[in-house]
Amino acid sequence: MAKPKVFVTRVILDQGMNLIAGFCDAQVWPAELPPGRELIVERARGAEGLLCLLTDTIDGEIMDAIGPQLKVISNHAVGFDNIAVADATARGIPVGNTPGILTDATADMAFALLMATGRQVVAGDRTVRSGGWKTWSPSFMLGADFTGATLGLVGFGRIGRAVARRATGFGMHILYYDPQPAGSEPGVAAEPADLDALLRAADFVSIHAPLNEETRHLVDAEFLAKMKPTAILVNTARGPIVDQKALYEALKSRRIFAAGLDVTDPEPLPMDSPLLELDNLVVCPHIASASWATRARMSLMAAENLIAGLKGERLPNCVNPEVYAAMP
Ligand code: DGY
Repeated sequence: MAKPKVFVTRVILDQGMNLIAGFCDAQVWPAELPPGRELIVERARGAEGLLCLLTDTIDGEIMDAIGPQLKVISNHAVGFDNIAVADATARGIPVGNTPGILTDATADMAFALLMATGRQVVAGDRTVRSGGWKTWSPSFMLGADFTGATLGLVGFGRIGRAVARRATGFGMHILYYDPQPAGSEPGVAAEPADLDALLRAADFVSIHAPLNEETRHLVDAEFLAKMKPTAILVNTARGPIVDQKALYEALKSRRIFAAGLDVTDPEPLPMDSPLLELDNLVVCPHIASASWATRARMSLMAAENLIAGLKGERLPNCVNPEVYAAMP
């Protein structure tokens, strides 16, 4: 029997790729950069499955151009703001994602950025390399204390709670704001707060919310104005949650002490972005889930979702389960 045809929009790790190769007739986009809209349609036309990345925008028009035989879209990410999920549901197409397995890696990265900015790790490295280290000095490169400091988590889902577990080990006081609280975290004394109270009290603010119309530019000039002048902002969620112009102003005027970003808007951050002129910003290229084991598990989970959809089975991790209710 012929294997189902699928298009995979980038080379993923072997664990997932081998599973796909065993079950599917897979065409894989081989280049380092994403294929873009037209090439996705050209390569995926007639495919029953699409495995895509967060760098691919998949909307109803693309789904229609691929064709009515398209049975499943599997996103190699936990976030799925790159996919028009309602369009997929309207076409009876289940959409898969990769929740849970990148929680710890992402929380580690959030903590790495909190520490890198708070204790001037990157600025210190730059200072040494540029010959700025003249002697040990009592007031040289002072930074934030963690023990006893207040961490404000905007979003208290899986990743926010994993950051809270780490902060507990550092002896931090934890506040969280989440309009849809997911319940408490065992062993963690985190208190719910409204956003204003959290921003005014926190020494560190870390963003762990999905990108949607409520959270786009949630971090704007008003948000930043409520933070302490000594406070630090970290974003490992999605770039457009932060209004980058407002962040630039807040960092440049030292309205806040520092920021650490793993995600930007757009991605990649253009080399002429004014943000790159700032010495109180640490920026990384969206690598929070980039640990060996995590990316291997993401590739496997994305492959499992894809194959389940091709077989007509329920996806192990489906973001639009309502699609099944609509099915005969
Ligand atoms: C995700 O999965 O949504 C992350 O941003 C990619 O690591």
